[in-house]
Amino acid sequence: MKLAIYPGTFDPVTNGHLDILERAASVFGTVYVAVAKNIHKNPLFTIDERIKLIKECTSQYPNVKIDQFEGLAVDYAHKVGASVIIRGLRAISDFDYEFQMALMNRHMNDSIDTVFFMPHEDYTYLSSSTVREIVRFGGNINAFVPEIVKNELIKKLRSK
Ligand code: COA
Repeated sequence: MKLAIYPGTFDPVTNGHLDILERAASVFGTVYVAVAKNIHKNPLFTIDERIKLIKECTSQYPNVKIDQFEGLAVDYAHKVGASVIIRGLRAISDFDYEFQMALMNRHMNDSIDTVFFMPHEDYTYLSSSTVREIVRFGGNINAFVPEIVKNELIKKLRSK
C-alpha cells in the first residue's frame, strides 16, 4: 500500500484540509500530515498546537499520522518512505503555484509524484487566514472548522 504525505502549515486546520485528507486516506495506505515549521509565515499557533488540533480532528482515521517537518517536502517524503505528495486544488487560481511546485519537486526527486484532490465545492474559497480574520472580527466560522478549532481560535485571538 502506498504511503503519502500531505504537507502544509495548517494554521489552523480547516474543514477544507480535512476534506482533502479524508479523500486521500481512502486512496492511500497511510497518509502523513506533515506540518511545516514554515519559515515564510508567522503562524498564530505554535507547531505543537497545530499538531494537537490536527490529531484531535483526525482520530477517526487509523491510517492518518501526524508529524512535523523542516526543509524540503521531497526530502521529508523520502525520509518517511512516501512516494506521493498530496495537494489540494481549490480553484484555478491555485493551479500556477501548484504546477510550479509539483514540477520543481519532481525535478528534485523523480520517484515522488504529486497527486491533487479537489475539496468539496463548499470549501473552494476557504483558507486558514480567512478563518482567522473572521474570528478576529467576531464572525461565525461554524461551517468552516471543527468545534475544537473554533474554540481554540476564539481563545487565542480574543485574549490578544
Ligand atoms: N482547505 C482550506 N484551506 C486550504 C486548502 C484546503 N483544502 N488548501 C490550501 N488551503 C489554504 C491554506 O489554509 C493556506 O491558507 P493561508 O495562506 O491563508 O494560511 C493557503 O491555502 C496556502 O496553503 P498551502 O499552499 O498548502 O501552503 P502552506 O503554507 O500551508 O504550505 C508548504 C506550503 C509548506 C506545503 C510548501 O511551502 C512546502 O512544501 N514547503 C517546504 C519547502 C519546499 O519543499 N518547497 C517547495 C520547493 S518547490
